[in-house]
Amino acid sequence: MTLSPQPTTTSAPQTAPAPQPARLGWPRGTADLRYGGDYNPEQWTRETWLEDIELMKQARVNLVSVGIFNWGLIEPRQGEYDFAQLDEIMDLLAGAGIDVDLGTPTASPPAWFWKAYPDSRPVTRDGVPLGFGSRGMASPSSPHYRRAAAAVTEQLARRYADHPALAMWHVHNEYGAPVGESYDEHSVSAFRGWLAARYGTVDALNSAWGTAFWGQRYQDWSEIDAPRLAATVTNPAQRLDFARFTSDALLECFVAERDIIRAHTPQLAVTTNFMASSCPSMDYWKWAREVDVVSNDHYLTAEREDNHILLALDADLTRSLAGGRPWMLMEHSTSAVNWQPRNLAKRPGELALNSLSHFARGADAIMFFQFRASRSGAEKFHSAMLPHAGTDSRVWREVTALGSDLAALASMRGSTVDARVAILWDWESFWAQDLEWRPSVDLRHRERIEAYYTALWQLGVTVDFVHPEGDLSGYDALIAPSLYAVTSRGGRALTDYVRGGGRLLVSFGSGLVDEFDAVHPGGFPGPLSEPLGLTIEELLPFRSGETAALDTGGTATVWADDIRLDGAEVVTRFADGRAAGEPAVTRNAFGAGVGWYVSTRPDAETLRGLVARVLGEAGVEIPGPPEGLEVVERSAGSARYRVYLNHTDADLTVAASGRELLSGAAVTGSLTVPARSPRIIAL
Ligand code: GLA
Repeated sequence: MTLSPQPTTTSAPQTAPAPQPARLGWPRGTADLRYGGDYNPEQWTRETWLEDIELMKQARVNLVSVGIFNWGLIEPRQGEYDFAQLDEIMDLLAGAGIDVDLGTPTASPPAWFWKAYPDSRPVTRDGVPLGFGSRGMASPSSPHYRRAAAAVTEQLARRYADHPALAMWHVHNEYGAPVGESYDEHSVSAFRGWLAARYGTVDALNSAWGTAFWGQRYQDWSEIDAPRLAATVTNPAQRLDFARFTSDALLECFVAERDIIRAHTPQLAVTTNFMASSCPSMDYWKWAREVDVVSNDHYLTAEREDNHILLALDADLTRSLAGGRPWMLMEHSTSAVNWQPRNLAKRPGELALNSLSHFARGADAIMFFQFRASRSGAEKFHSAMLPHAGTDSRVWREVTALGSDLAALASMRGSTVDARVAILWDWESFWAQDLEWRPSVDLRHRERIEAYYTALWQLGVTVDFVHPEGDLSGYDALIAPSLYAVTSRGGRALTDYVRGGGRLLVSFGSGLVDEFDAVHPGGFPGPLSEPLGLTIEELLPFRSGETAALDTGGTATVWADDIRLDGAEVVTRFADGRAAGEPAVTRNAFGAGVGWYVSTRPDAETLRGLVARVLGEAGVEIPGPPEGLEVVERSAGSARYRVYLNHTDADLTVAASGRELLSGAAVTGSLTVPARSPRIIAL
């Protein structure tokens, strides 16, 4: 076998997102916005079901997700099915006019499965097989799991295809959590097959993985293992491919169930709930192409003061995954969750502000985990629509009020959000950057995305997220916050974007490697060198806590570069410190556009000023709302709506005219948005 020299890293298949196919779109039925949550009646008696259904009607619930964790109930022994309870629930809900988003229960196989197929247990990177008594799927590559999942899905799809309550399908639950990568033997052999399909020959794999380094060269597919815990750092390209394989293996499981369902109910939408910005292990650009409607789960990080901004980020990312079409907020919480170190209750009004922020950003379904709080099990301290305290509670009052508010907003259903600016987002770049032995632990894609997103949020600019190889054409400006891995193809797309008149703002640590975690020939920032008009001679990360002054004002932390200018002009330099005199911000007129580079982590105010300057030059309108006021527009044809969400403790007044939809009041010239409250205007 001949082995090719390294590096030859440009020939392997690319993973650019393809255009979105037409979708089936939306749960069948009502023209209203969807409102409801997960409903787990198997935890309750029939008497409670009847009470629940009455309360759902009171709260104007029109959709519930049922059956997500009931595999052990409907298939108590392998191949023996018992649908008596589910039949009754479906009938009761249909009788009450409440639609069902029917779950396949495959996120949590029953006890008999684990007993019969112990080799299907997922195995951690350090070799520990995971036990039963919790939840979490089996190894996605286990043929036993795939067969069992297909069998129960087939039964459900056949049985309920024509049921009047059935409005859509909810496959599995949160693929990738709590189990993502699995190092079991089924996975290892499937990984080998995946690699053979990707590379064709072992030589090509050796080349892509750079196995000449540390003597890792392979002669045969059978020698290749999953990237288990090893003596020291494992080949990063091997880890990256295992991450890709894992996302693909789980996606195969989804597609298999979806196709069984589609054969019975081709007219109904099939979804699975994403965790857009919080699931590190799925490449949702790929997943989004396979669902009929994008649905998402979002939970606040309770202790972060800026969690309303992070919520907005997650919602904007979800809308982007949905290709701008309306999407479903499948889960969020009415108040506290139970799985964070300190599970803070939401403040009065926060439930509505959170829900309406998702709505403002394109969600036409607002759903919660879960309808009635569980008495037993691991989630008993998690809030619900109906808390343990019952209906005489703040949470229930806010839940019913939100139900009425959403009914008043039905006319906005289907309206969309337009963004002129996008942030680049690539799960593969996250995977690569999060591996070991990087130039600095402070180089964090997520942290920079949040910083740039926050600047945009504060300026009142709505943004999309886009893959570097996605459709960039609709944006006046793009931001690449520490996009560590950039493929040659992505680099070409970004170069063409700038050449054609776009504004690209790139922050440090971008373009350091390609899709195999190999440095681009010629060094940093790889294919971004041309549009940025510079080359980086050396990376100059800072000590922890180290700061430097910028000559145009403000301070810098974390990073600098030793830059060789190849056409770019210097906008700001480091005034002192290890990079004194080096460029901190550069601007490169390139073709009809401009490439900006920020070689450091400026303080928040300096960053906001810079973002405003770049957007201003790009002709993007910067509304600059009062501090803490979230303003987002949705439109449909000539109809325009503006959602105002006041996240502060003081009333805020803005200029506005139109009709306030929650109250029906006319607004003429000025609108006061009360503290911690929403207002929604049809302009
Ligand atoms: C996830 C799950 C739910 C529930 C919630 C609790 O989103 O999908 O089943 O466990 O978390 O926050």
